[in-house]
Amino acid sequence: MKIGVVGLGYVGLVTASVLADHKNEIAGVDIDNRRIEKLKAGTVPLFEPHLSDYLSRNGDLMTFSDNYQILENCRAVFVCTPSPTMNGRIDTRYVEESCANIARVNDNCTIIIKSTVVPGTAKMIKRNTGMPIISNPEFTREGSAISDTEKPDRVVIGGENTEIAEKIWQFTRSPVVKTTNENAELIKYASNAFLATKISFINEIANLCERIPGADVETVSKGMGYDRRIAPYFLKAGLGYGGSCFPKDTEALVTYARELGVSLLLVEATISVNAKRVRHAVEIIDLAMRKRSLLKVCVLGIAFKNNTDDLRESRALDLVRELSRLGYEIRIYDPAFSGNLINVEACESIEKCVEWAEAIVVAAEWNQFRLIEKMQLSKPVFDLRRILDGASFTDYWGTGIWKE
Ligand code: UGA
Repeated sequence: MKIGVVGLGYVGLVTASVLADHKNEIAGVDIDNRRIEKLKAGTVPLFEPHLSDYLSRNGDLMTFSDNYQILENCRAVFVCTPSPTMNGRIDTRYVEESCANIARVNDNCTIIIKSTVVPGTAKMIKRNTGMPIISNPEFTREGSAISDTEKPDRVVIGGENTEIAEKIWQFTRSPVVKTTNENAELIKYASNAFLATKISFINEIANLCERIPGADVETVSKGMGYDRRIAPYFLKAGLGYGGSCFPKDTEALVTYARELGVSLLLVEATISVNAKRVRHAVEIIDLAMRKRSLLKVCVLGIAFKNNTDDLRESRALDLVRELSRLGYEIRIYDPAFSGNLINVEACESIEKCVEWAEAIVVAAEWNQFRLIEKMQLSKPVFDLRRILDGASFTDYWGTGIWKE
């Protein structure tokens, strides 16, 4: 089948590559000409594990352009363009524009919206364009986007005449939720808001553990997670959630609900708990550093989580800015991000970064950061993501553990 994909960011490029790997012919469109040139030259414009393998082995099935005309003969076109928030409110302009452009070149296809949009958006676009619109939200995580797309926990398909979308995703053999556009749109928001709520919940329990001698949030979380009704996922306490989805989607959901006269108190609390995470960590680091008269800090992990180079809404970045504002000298190391930040030098190896520093902050969950356990460090180590064995250090602080 010839399938179009509009918007070649994380979601679009992963969708395009996986569908090409399942022998579909792909026409990919993005308005960013530099991105298109890179793709044509066989360069992957973003970091996502396995994506370059998928792109290179399916190169002959994929065409890229900044011109919508290449979507002419597609039977279905996925819309994966951004849906940012403006003052907490969703801005669907890019999604609307993409759909209008698709309708102009091909009025014989089905538009499948993957972008996260509030309920009512698909129907509004259907009215404006006269095109069949399917809502097919995605639940992939950056860093494991390929495997999440190959084998999602479920495929949600909203709208009428959903056969084409069902056929496209048949290879996943995942359960399919067939429903209305509105339900599909809301399933996405409710899922992200619920996951964000789990994270803020465990972060509050972590704050409590820090005040209880003998308590450790990792053990509390593990003990909770065995209960199948709770499940162990997204119960990892840390620096708070970031990235291009949870912060934006929780805000957009609260605003959307408020406009309908509904207060989402739990989601509002989730957002405010998350907003306090960086301050909490900075206070602890600052106090310990002052006591020891230390100034040089290295931060391991600068992207919003491991296995990505994405800095959007990165709590690690907020932390670096805040420590820098307090006068600390900072160097960073991130296996996926190699650019320099203002006033912050990026080191080329974890060893160099740690050797230079007087204190170490772990801000993302990369496995390779565990290397520092073997370094016999006497410097203070702040394990904000709880990935280290505290017993390997003489001066260790971990999120959610009581310390005198
Ligand atoms: C999230 C959802 O997990 C996906 O299902 C969804 O498709 C995607 O948003 C989206 O809407 O596009 P993503 O933002 O890539 O995916 O990353 P997550 O792995 O969910 O992590 C989000 C943030 O929460 C990260 O900052 C991570 O460090 C943090 N987190 C996650 C925790 O602090 N604790 C946890 O237990 C899990």
